[in-house]
Amino acid sequence: MAKLKAGVLISGRGSNLLSLLRACAEPDFPASVAVVVSSHADAAGLAHADRFGVPKTVISHRDYSNRESFDRAVSTVLESHGVELVCLAGFMRIFSPWFPTRWANRILNIHPSLLPSFKGLDVHQQAIDAGVRVSGATVHLVTPDLDAGPIVAQAAVPVHQGDTAEKLAARILAAEHELYPLVLRWFAEGRVRLEPVAGKIPRVVIDGVAPDAALLWRP
Ligand code: GAR
Repeated sequence: MAKLKAGVLISGRGSNLLSLLRACAEPDFPASVAVVVSSHADAAGLAHADRFGVPKTVISHRDYSNRESFDRAVSTVLESHGVELVCLAGFMRIFSPWFPTRWANRILNIHPSLLPSFKGLDVHQQAIDAGVRVSGATVHLVTPDLDAGPIVAQAAVPVHQGDTAEKLAARILAAEHELYPLVLRWFAEGRVRLEPVAGKIPRVVIDGVAPDAALLWRP
């Protein structure tokens, strides 16, 4: 069967991109990375695209007069590579409403907290400051509301006494690297379904997996 074509958007280090590229390099993995788009020319993650022989493009917001024209340029590149699913992986630009509408239900983000807790930036410090004992990562569908789209899967890790934001970030990042490929596989296998909920955002159902498969617990 044809593999699902993913487009991965990055802005920096690209360790989540690397985890997706590694998964896609497995012969029986049902998805491939068709293109990597970076918002920054100096993003370290671009080297991963080269190493795996995946086409890459840099699109700088500085070359566009407003958010939507930048978004449309990104979309044009994704379309030209036949992308079917967009994966945000440390992509640090906020879209205009146009982009998540154009790619509705076909755009994922990974965020380093257990949403809906701790949206936005400085997420690990937010978790430490709140005194939570558990934090983690969330893969969710992207909607025009920041960090608020339907949740697909989560990975939970403990927050230890004396944790710094750096220590917690490293623990969560290791879990992110397991979580994102798992979700990409489910999309490619056609297991991800949205169930409408009256007056609320839809709920994600993953068909044909164990009831607890969408939660990774990494103590
Ligand atoms: C990851 O921790 C990702 O969850 C986070 O940025 C990091 C990117 O690392 N994303 C966000 O905070 C989005 N709101 P990476 O470039 O090594 O994948």
